Amino acid sequence: MNAARTLRVPGRHGYAAEFSPYLAGRLACAAAQHYGIAGCGTLLILDQNESGLGIFRSFDWNDGLFDVTWSENNEHVLVTCSGDGSLQLWDTAKATGPLQVYKEHSQEVYSVDWSQTRGEQLVVSGSWDRTVKVWDPTVGKSLCTFRGHESVIYSTIWSPHIPGCFASASGDQTLRIWDRRAAGIRIVVPAHQAEILSCDWCKYNENLLVTGAVDCSLRGWDLRNVRQPVFELLGHTYAIRRVKFSPFHASVLASCSYDFTVSTGDLAMLNKYFQIFWNFSKPDPLLDTVEHHTEFTCGLDLSLQSPTQVADCSWDETIKIYDPACLAVPA
Ligand SMILES: *[C@@H]1O[C@H](CO)[C@@H](O)[C@H](O)[C@H]1NC(C)=O
Ligand SMILES: *[C@@H]1O[C@H](CO)[C@@H](O)[C@H](O)[C@H]1NC(C)=O
Repeated sequence: MNAARTLRVPGRHGYAAEFSPYLAGRLACAAAQHYGIAGCGTLLILDQNESGLGIFRSFDWNDGLFDVTWSENNEHVLVTCSGDGSLQLWDTAKATGPLQVYKEHSQEVYSVDWSQTRGEQLVVSGSWDRTVKVWDPTVGKSLCTFRGHESVIYSTIWSPHIPGCFASASGDQTLRIWDRRAAGIRIVVPAHQAEILSCDWCKYNENLLVTGAVDCSLRGWDLRNVRQPVFELLGHTYAIRRVKFSPFHASVLASCSYDFTVSTGDLAMLNKYFQIFWNFSKPDPLLDTVEHHTEFTCGLDLSLQSPTQVADCSWDETIKIYDPACLAVPA
């Protein structure tokens, strides 16, 4: 693996990292002061070149920012979400912002995602107030509110294949599949016996999703039969914070967790924070383990432009871009 390019952002704890779908090497990072418990938030727009990572733009918000998503129809536009229950729309062509603030959720908003299916330009948000909202960013208020989860919502993501269809993952231990037009739940998957912190939709198979939970496991779900998972990946030793499918390799995914191990053979306690790369089609699915942060890693993304490039951000105040060797195989 090449050395990671690292940017240190003093006083900012990273929550989410998302590569631009337009510009190779441009990365957005949502961050919060004081681990998101108090203080303000910052949206960082980073560019990389041969000499490293640099800040192109930086925008502050008066509460912690927990997630970010790029517009699918304007390369300058992003949406973030925050601890005060609001969503913010930003324009990187301008030096200040936000352009718009959408305040409807009554508690922390932990996830935002911009739809990718042709013709739709909608944002979905998931909140600790147990609701999911769908927004048209050109309209100042939500189009629809979806209720059903019995605990906080950590993750919401549009299907990359089916227009109007999205998934949500919650502390109520379920993964739910929704249809915006039917305004209801299509499928409830009791996916883990633990809080589910993350989910993602496979780019190559419209029926396949993955969930990552506090029980340290990742599980794959085929929506045509959700009685049992189609795969289970074990290797993390603590809650899985984020999982993403590769846009280049049909059976590869990456996950990060709140891992730690305590060395008893030594006086020092050793905390470890891993990102793991998996190939769920292989009998031995663990491809690679990366350890380069000194605190929890919350944000993780795989580049849409480069088959090998990965970005992550951590509570250790650093953002890294790197190229794990396991991804350098023909797709
Ligand atoms: C690379 O990026 C850094 C930080 O943004 C900048 O200072 C430097 O001039 C850039 N170098 C090149 C060769 O573009
Ligand atoms: C994943 O595993 C499958 C089946 O063994 C293999 O064909 C494919 O090349 C692997 N991909 C990667 C990126 O390891």
